[in-house]
Amino acid sequence: MHMDIDELFPAHLSELRRRIDLALATHGFDGVAIFSGAAGYSFLDDRSYPFRVNPHFAQWVPLTDLQQSFVGYTPGAEPLLCFHQPADYWHRPPSLPSGDWLRQFRLEVLRDPGQALDLLGLAGRRIAFVGEWQAAFEDWGFAAINPAPLLHQLHYDRAVKTAYELECMRRASDMAVRGHLVARDAFAAGASEFETHLAYCAAVGQRDEELPYGNIIAFNEGAAVLHYQHLDRNSTGPRRSFLIDAGAQFRGYAADITRTYAAADGEFATLVGGMDALQRKLCAAVASGVDYRDIHLLAHREIAGLLRDAGVIRCGPDEALESGLSSVFFPHGIGHLLGLQVHDVAGLARDPSGAEIPRPEGHPFLRLTRRLEPGFVVTIEPGLYFIDLLLDAARSAGHGGRINWDAVERLRPYGGIRIEDDVACTPGEPENLTRDAFARSEVRDDK
Ligand code: GLY
Ligand code: MN
Ligand code: MN
Repeated sequence: MHMDIDELFPAHLSELRRRIDLALATHGFDGVAIFSGAAGYSFLDDRSYPFRVNPHFAQWVPLTDLQQSFVGYTPGAEPLLCFHQPADYWHRPPSLPSGDWLRQFRLEVLRDPGQALDLLGLAGRRIAFVGEWQAAFEDWGFAAINPAPLLHQLHYDRAVKTAYELECMRRASDMAVRGHLVARDAFAAGASEFETHLAYCAAVGQRDEELPYGNIIAFNEGAAVLHYQHLDRNSTGPRRSFLIDAGAQFRGYAADITRTYAAADGEFATLVGGMDALQRKLCAAVASGVDYRDIHLLAHREIAGLLRDAGVIRCGPDEALESGLSSVFFPHGIGHLLGLQVHDVAGLARDPSGAEIPRPEGHPFLRLTRRLEPGFVVTIEPGLYFIDLLLDAARSAGHGGRINWDAVERLRPYGGIRIEDDVACTPGEPENLTRDAFARSEVRDDK
């Protein structure tokens, strides 16, 4: 069912080398040192923040917990992994890596990060540092720290996933779907938001800090808060609706999935069904050469059409889009690039120089304006919410006559709807990583 990930890694690494060889030559560097990162500490405390590995590092080596380490690379030479394994009896030092991917690297184990200075071969060469800068590196002699032209190029290239990266994302999708199914059942069985979150993490097998973003687990009106971060401990009270936006990570690659459930049949459940149908239509629009901005604008028209058919607004899709009314109900972008970061880099990049493609006027939150290419993975996440702040502003802005306020009153207690899939652009039909993972889980359930 899945491809052998180890078999895919060498071609992935070759592609990274091809990209960086070109980028280094273009921008006048002899090599690069990619620093994994170091956990920061709370103010006046000896407690560290959760560690987030430098995504550039995770792209080269599938190690997401490794601090104070480097990948060193110069074109033509075998990549070097400076693996920091401190002598520490307060914490468990990282275990030495194993796995086929390691054969592609020269491994050096460091007891002290300072040992990397000689290994990285900085003397007499222009080595660019990529990562979160540390004062300890001040005198090492790097030619540049995160040089913008180099990073722009690497970030631009990163939108196209290798076969290895796509496979990592399929596996992240399988993990997240396991959590989604358990969370759906927990909601139906009467669990609180907090308990549903714990059930999700247990099913995925990841702690909060290992997830690619904080879970959004929202019942009822909470579903109207776009990045609802609260986890209510209370399991009593009515439950009308459930919005879950939750992902998983595999080797540093993210899944980003949202589902919305109605607790009972009725007006809200019908709206959820309508959103599901239009979301599938938008996913089908993911194709090579398509301007992602057009998918965003199509989403506005589709959502406005759904709202009109449901009797929530009193105008057609074009008027809703042009007047700004559709943004009252759908106030975020249709999606974004996905990969090593949930909101992956270079969504607005016109080319490798860092120049940007503007967002459509009046759509300040769209995170992706590029034309799609085979290998891009994007989210498609139309939303429809009843947000008091925006509804009040719409009334003040003169939209009052276009809104059926009785319908809004009826639907407000359900919060809102978002349905989000991760979709890979291919030369032909799009690959829906999310729906494929749900389908695989059904096959497993039948066995
Ligand atoms: N989970 C964050 C997002 O959907 O963009
Ligand atoms: Mn998303
Ligand atoms: Mn999401």
